[in-house]
Amino acid sequence: MATERTLSILKPDATRRNLTGKINAVFEEAGLRIIAQKRLQLSQTQAEAFYGAHRERGFFKDLVGFMVGGPVVVQVLEGEDAIAQNRKLMGATNPANADAGTIRKLFAESIEANSVHGSDSAEAAAHEIGFFFAGTEIVG
Ligand code: RTP
Ligand code: MG
Repeated sequence: MATERTLSILKPDATRRNLTGKINAVFEEAGLRIIAQKRLQLSQTQAEAFYGAHRERGFFKDLVGFMVGGPVVVQVLEGEDAIAQNRKLMGATNPANADAGTIRKLFAESIEANSVHGSDSAEAAAHEIGFFFAGTEIVG
């Protein structure tokens, strides 16, 4: 396994409920390091571009509305097999299907307000990290 970097987002339902520290503790206790982090209010344009792969999906408009509905925390996580490890820590998209102990089982409100985003491939991670961070903002 190699050291990888992945893009994580703490979604508006998490910031609204003051859960950023509790979720970051899950990452850190699992050995992932937060090597970049900032709190942002996404614009409509940014949210549409970020989730552009889902543009044709029925839930796209609601998803974008949700993502601009409050602040998010965007972050780069680094560690062994970080992309897959983060997806495992997150749990299934729908918290009703998420395994016990995962972030979405512990904290998510619904299939949409599911607390966290994580890159799902190496290609997505590289693209998504570049979407939010300049190289100088990432300190590994
Ligand atoms: P993410 O991209 O945010 O890490 O989540 P994911 O891979 O687990 O799920 P994905 O299929 O990529 O969906 C992106 C986000 O869209 C919202 N969603 N709503 N109402 C619905 O049926 C529905 N399905 C997905 C969720 O916020 C999901 O995380
Ligand atoms: Mg996804």
